[in-house]
Amino acid sequence: MNVIDAILTRRSIRRFTGQVISDEQLELLLKAGFQAPSAHNLQPWHFIIVKEKENLEKISSSHPYAKMLPQAGCGIIVCGDVKKEPNEGFLAEDCAAAIQNILLAAHGTGLGAVWCGLYPNTDRTTVISSILKLPENIIPVGLIAVGYPNEEKTAQDRYDSTRIHYETW
Ligand SMILES: Cc1cc2nc3c(=O)[nH]c(=O)nc-3n(C[C@H](O)[C@H](O)[C@H](O)COP(=O)(O)O)c2cc1C
Repeated sequence: MNVIDAILTRRSIRRFTGQVISDEQLELLLKAGFQAPSAHNLQPWHFIIVKEKENLEKISSSHPYAKMLPQAGCGIIVCGDVKKEPNEGFLAEDCAAAIQNILLAAHGTGLGAVWCGLYPNTDRTTVISSILKLPENIIPVGLIAVGYPNEEKTAQDRYDSTRIHYETW
């Protein structure tokens, strides 16, 4: 799938077959994440891969909107290191760029994925940090549930010319 098709047809997938993705597929997703742009090219990210059912269930039950995670079979928690990027705004943006790259790579390779928000919701980041035993300097920014899709979603055209401003507002 070419990159424009991937961008225009990507949707959040929340129903999965239960088949776990291969290590090769996972590596490709991570490569996509690592290629994201980042402020000052600091690349402050870490990726925590969770595949064990028990751990997926623990994370899922700690998050109000991540019930699909155990069925997806793989969770990628994208975290930022405040020692590398002390500006938390940039840290979150860098990790968000990595997350979006992973979502697009998943869709472009026939997988399905959904981004479940963590940062800046401190209730969520605190509990996820505890479950994943994150060091103090590591902030969990977002959780991606990824697996084989068990639903089909049509592309949505969200283009809105009223939101486009030329030269000034
Ligand atoms: C920062 C962020 C947090 C999100 N959190 C959740 C979440 O916790 N659970 C979920 O099912 N979807 C979550 N989503 C996915 C959005 O609901 C979804 O992207 C939006 O409804 C648009 O649908 P689409 O992704 O199919 O285009 C999140 C998306 C973003 C960008």
